[in-house]
Amino acid sequence: MTAGRVAAGAGPTVDGHGSAPLLEVTDLRVRFTRAGRAVHAVNGLSYSLAPGRMLAIIGESGSGKSVSSRALMGLLPPTARVSGSARFDGTELVGLPEREMRRRRGADIAMVFQDPARSLNPTMRVGVQITEAVRAHAQLDRNAAKVRAIELLQLVRLPAPERRFHEYPHQLSGGMRQRVMIAIALAGRPRLLIADEATTALDVTTQAQIMELLVELQERLGMAVILISHDLALAASYADDVVVMYGGRAVERASAATLFASVRMPYTRALLGAIPLLERPAHTELPVVAGQPPDPAALPAGCPFRPRCGSATDECATAPDFTEHEPGHWWACWHPEVGA
Ligand SMILES: Nc1ncnc2c1ncn2[C@@H]1O[C@H](COP(=O)(O)OP(=O)(O)OP(=O)(O)O)[C@@H](O)[C@H]1O
Ligand SMILES: [Mg+2]
Repeated sequence: MTAGRVAAGAGPTVDGHGSAPLLEVTDLRVRFTRAGRAVHAVNGLSYSLAPGRMLAIIGESGSGKSVSSRALMGLLPPTARVSGSARFDGTELVGLPEREMRRRRGADIAMVFQDPARSLNPTMRVGVQITEAVRAHAQLDRNAAKVRAIELLQLVRLPAPERRFHEYPHQLSGGMRQRVMIAIALAGRPRLLIADEATTALDVTTQAQIMELLVELQERLGMAVILISHDLALAASYADDVVVMYGGRAVERASAATLFASVRMPYTRALLGAIPLLERPAHTELPVVAGQPPDPAALPAGCPFRPRCGSATDECATAPDFTEHEPGHWWACWHPEVGA
């Protein structure tokens, strides 16, 4: 990871909710080199998150959701080149030395990954894995750490936590494993929890239960949450704020209420399923927007959504700025939808 540049004017700011942001991402860029070509995975992403809020980051596969979030935690492979700024409570995370990042990982920002089957160690009892996470963050003896681990399992509402403590991951359902993953992420008492597609592999009912758990934890612990998802309708019904990503940058940003009331970007409208979609295969929950997402190794000039957009004109050959056009409502489009 290269040292980043701090964007001009990225001083302390106040967001629309009256509190200084916990996280302020400004012009974040991540580039990989693959087979001699530059892959522009994140392309000037900007958003901010106030303490205790829940932000949904939405976009199709490959839009840069995971890469941009992993960049915040220094969890990218060494081939990644990161620039721009991501300030967490005043500390610049871009270019932070690994030693310092390791100290903060899990304590400031913790992440829950998509696939608990791969994130949990199948050969270790659940309790051992949580206790290890607890002891990585606090100097507790084995018994005190066990007490804290069981408290964490209660906090995530795992049924029969004392019994489950002694079980292996395969003895738990998918939803229970996801609760254990969340408990592990909470071990360091993070102020920001990033849930990257944390419910995608689950059935609809379990998905809703995990979402409700995240909202409950957000409220009880006063913790900020970033919810990464393909599913705009689902995530926005739980989140306070929404950032829609396309081609590695934000293309629309607003409170969830504003977004549902007045979508501006044709792309966001397509994600909501309100403009004609390519035939939706019977077993996908994901809306399929007609056409292909842009190739991050060959991004088109101008608006990246232009090749798929029914509203595109010659004007769209010039990239629109991502601007706050209405109070609290940002978008990057020459032809925003009008009305509610
Ligand atoms: N290590 C890497 N080397 C090269 N390219 C990478 C690497 N990691 C990710 N990418 C590319 O960066 C782009 C963004 O990937 P990212 O994982 O952030 O997408 P995403 O929005 O999280 O997608 P999904 O919804 O499928 O999880 C993709 O084109 C991906 O192929
Ligand atoms: Mg991802």
